[in-house]
Amino acid sequence: MKIVVLGAGYVGLTTSACLAELGHDVTCCDIDGDRIAALERAEVPIFEPGLSELIGKQIALGRLHFTTHATKAAGTADAIFLAVGTPSDANGDIDLSYVETAAKTIAPYMQSRAVLVIKSTVVAGTARRVKALVDASRGSKDIAVASNPEFLREGSAIKDFMHADRIVIGADDAASEAVLREVYEPLLLRGIPLVATQTVNAELIKYAANALLALRIGFINDVADLCEKLEGDVGAVADGIGRDHRIGSAFLSAGPGFGGSCFPKDTRAFASTGRRHGAPQPLIETLIERNELRKEALADRIIDAAPRHGRVAILGTSFKANTDDVREAAALTIIPRLIEAGLDVHLHDPQPNGAKRLLPDAHWHTSALDATRGADVTVVLTEWDEYRSLDLAELRKAMRGQALLDFRNIIDRERAASAGLIYQGLGRSGIVVQPARRGHAITAKAPVAASPA
Ligand code: UGA
Repeated sequence: MKIVVLGAGYVGLTTSACLAELGHDVTCCDIDGDRIAALERAEVPIFEPGLSELIGKQIALGRLHFTTHATKAAGTADAIFLAVGTPSDANGDIDLSYVETAAKTIAPYMQSRAVLVIKSTVVAGTARRVKALVDASRGSKDIAVASNPEFLREGSAIKDFMHADRIVIGADDAASEAVLREVYEPLLLRGIPLVATQTVNAELIKYAANALLALRIGFINDVADLCEKLEGDVGAVADGIGRDHRIGSAFLSAGPGFGGSCFPKDTRAFASTGRRHGAPQPLIETLIERNELRKEALADRIIDAAPRHGRVAILGTSFKANTDDVREAAALTIIPRLIEAGLDVHLHDPQPNGAKRLLPDAHWHTSALDATRGADVTVVLTEWDEYRSLDLAELRKAMRGQALLDFRNIIDRERAASAGLIYQGLGRSGIVVQPARRGHAITAKAPVAASPA
């Protein structure tokens, strides 16, 4: 099939490369000429594991093309995917102007019976509104507008596309549903389940899924706080509840509050849609507030652990591992607050490009150990694998102080204590159950703090 994708951002690029991998002839369009010129040379502007390689491969196979001339490409396409941005405004509503402008611009150039597919995350009812705009722009009703939300996670986007849990198609007529079934046929034949429903339901599925995942994170973060008060261990609690198949174990890792380009924006849009339609979403409203407060509270925890004008090393600025994305990352709340408190902040991230644009004046280091030299406090803020395997004895030697705050719970606290570090994770100040010698369990206080060196 001939497919056009409008938008060469994270979603547009992943979708284009993966649809080409499924065998389609894909043209990815963007108005940014420099970006398109770089992509034609297989230079990918974002860090996403495997994406450059896949794009290079599909260009070489002749199945993936890039252009700034969307209207020209549109004329022969069977389906046009809109993957343009939907930024948040101050009220939490999303700005649909890019989606609407792209739809109105492309509609007159589409061939009759082609389908316009909304891939961008949009509030419920958008596909039907866009359909009215498209009809008006063409002066005819021959183009269907469908919804096909994406569930890709940054850092594992290609795998999430190729091995999706489900494909959701929102279509208000049988013909557009048939086109989308054909687009995804290679994946459906592999047994990936299809959820085919109306556009409004598909749009709601996307928001409700993100809201529920974000709620799990907010919930486990609150449980982590309680664990700290009761000397419990949130890891053990998450493990115990996650083994109930009705609950499941995913998205139960305590952390510094969710960030990224999706959960914060989508929860705000979900809450605001609820308010606007008289169906308030109080759980989500509370979640949004608590998630922001968590980032601030953890900044204060660092300030309390550091001496006045002390030095703090932050390991990890991306909103999660395997991405250079810092949108709404905890680092963006925490670091300015530390600097404002008079602390000398030193940063490291294996993929610092995104963060460097926003924090250009910060002290950046090219190795994690360099960032920690002379630090009074070291904070692990992103769960990069290289921080899991930090040489803790070297870390202790590099630091001036001993405090290691692990906001991702990725470091073994006993290893940290034996290296002479004073370790504090999130919700893991608990009692350790030592294996008993003759079948009896012995409980012992966890070595949360080492004695001063
Ligand atoms: C999220 C969803 O997981 C995807 O399914 C969805 O397609 C995407 O949003 C989107 O709407 O486009 P993403 O934002 O890439 O994907 O990242 P996640 O892996 O979901 O993580 C979001 C945030 O939650 C991160 O800050 C992460 O550190 C945090 N998190 C995640 C936790 O604190 N604990 C967890 O157990 C899981």
